[in-house]
Amino acid sequence: MELLSQEIQYSREQRDDESLGSDDGDVILPKQSMQARQKQDVQRTRWNSSEVVRSDEQALRCVIIEACVGAGETVGQAAARALEEAILHEGADTVAAFIAEPVMGVGGVIVPPDDYFPLVRAICDQYEILFIADEVITGFGRTGEWFALKHWGVKPDLLSFAKAITSGYAQLGGIQLSDEIRETMESAADSEAWMHGYTYSGHAMACAVGLKNLEIMEKENYPACAKELGKRLLDGLKTLKEFPFVGDVRGLGLVCGVEIVSDKETKAADPAMATRIFKAAQSRGLRTRPLGNVLAFAPPLMINEEEVDEIVKRLGAAMDGIN
Ligand SMILES: Cc1ncc(COP(=O)(O)O)c(C=O)c1O
Repeated sequence: MELLSQEIQYSREQRDDESLGSDDGDVILPKQSMQARQKQDVQRTRWNSSEVVRSDEQALRCVIIEACVGAGETVGQAAARALEEAILHEGADTVAAFIAEPVMGVGGVIVPPDDYFPLVRAICDQYEILFIADEVITGFGRTGEWFALKHWGVKPDLLSFAKAITSGYAQLGGIQLSDEIRETMESAADSEAWMHGYTYSGHAMACAVGLKNLEIMEKENYPACAKELGKRLLDGLKTLKEFPFVGDVRGLGLVCGVEIVSDKETKAADPAMATRIFKAAQSRGLRTRPLGNVLAFAPPLMINEEEVDEIVKRLGAAMDGIN
């Protein structure tokens, strides 16, 4: 896999004794990637985090990625490269883990390109960094698979979940561990035990609700419902792209986002317009969630076709009212 298409410059002081200096000046690479990199005809770039900080927060995802996509690179490769550059900038041996939502929820319903998470997995493996998936929103069927990383055939080392394990009917959250991590914890000496706990950890009532909820979800095959009805919702919402202020419509399963912009070309964010549409929709009995300039939709997984169509109809009517 051609992950390491570009090298990163960073200062010697940021690396410790385990680092290896390269033959050419101030480029220092971790041991693991030296050989691979020496074989490549590479072009050097510097990841400039100040550019990221300056960019419009609403359009951050576009600005970061699009500004940094190199020639011949996909957006997914550029985003993964940004991760690799950040790891190398900090020093791989100072990074314990990388955590990400498979589909960013409150950040604006960002569905990653298909090549992103396989590359993230490979980078984490290469630098021996744990990969944690935060599936609090995406877990338990929301995106059309039981867990969203399944879409890309990627397994995390740790997975956090909450909300949907009980469909919100009781307070329960948890983490899944890889066998390797579990075995490491179980075989640790008492003196190395990691003590943690909460007053209500493993609460029997919440666990019972979770088990019953999962039983129902399995019986009703809710992930498949989310896949099918999510596609219907996304297709419906995409018809609203004809409005001058709809910059993008995206989603995976039953989590969708409609991005509101002041300029379709530049995709300049228009949170004020998003708020107007949100209120207009609410007055028509449609509740969405404004996330800056993105209107998010995450209806219950047992929604039916008519209700999906009603969402699209009422949102369209709300937008018509504004035009
Ligand atoms: C993706 C994601 N991760 C984590 C959390 C926090 O979950 P909790 O409140 O269970 O700590 C949230 C809360 O909405 C979330 O959306």
